[in-house]
Amino acid sequence: MNMTRYEFLKSMGFTGAALMAALTSCVKEEDTYVPITRIDASSVTPVVPVVPATPTSNISSITNPILKIDLATSTIKTVGSYLIQSNIVVAQVSAGAYVAVTNLCTHEPKRQVYYSDGSFFCSAHGAQFNLSGNPLNNVARTAIKAYQVATDGKTLVVY
Ligand code: FES
Repeated sequence: MNMTRYEFLKSMGFTGAALMAALTSCVKEEDTYVPITRIDASSVTPVVPVVPATPTSNISSITNPILKIDLATSTIKTVGSYLIQSNIVVAQVSAGAYVAVTNLCTHEPKRQVYYSDGSFFCSAHGAQFNLSGNPLNNVARTAIKAYQVATDGKTLVVY
């Protein structure tokens, strides 16, 4: 929902002289403010579809993995859980299916990306990204890096 500067300032509690002073300050009256919205990720089709890692027979053929995670001792044993290791966010997005992205946001270079309810978020200013790393709201304009993942059911490899 877009709102005008007047509506935005009124919603922030500005009234009377304070409201008029704020309206005549450096920003033009016709400027609009677009509040940050949280989008239901299931309603958005990823621009670059990601195939989450599902069990595969041979992960030893993957050369130079960035991360190897022992699933038995990891903290991503349940759907919806995630961990951050070596600046990579790894989440179990559905039963036995995993996705990995960088924790480095593209809005500003802050390492505050985490996983929640089918999307990745940045806790700094609320940027939201889909499982492919593409932005879902109006905070960040470019995608965060998504990695490939594979697992044999015991070990998860990020590469
Ligand atoms: S740095 Fe991530 S939302 Fe601003």
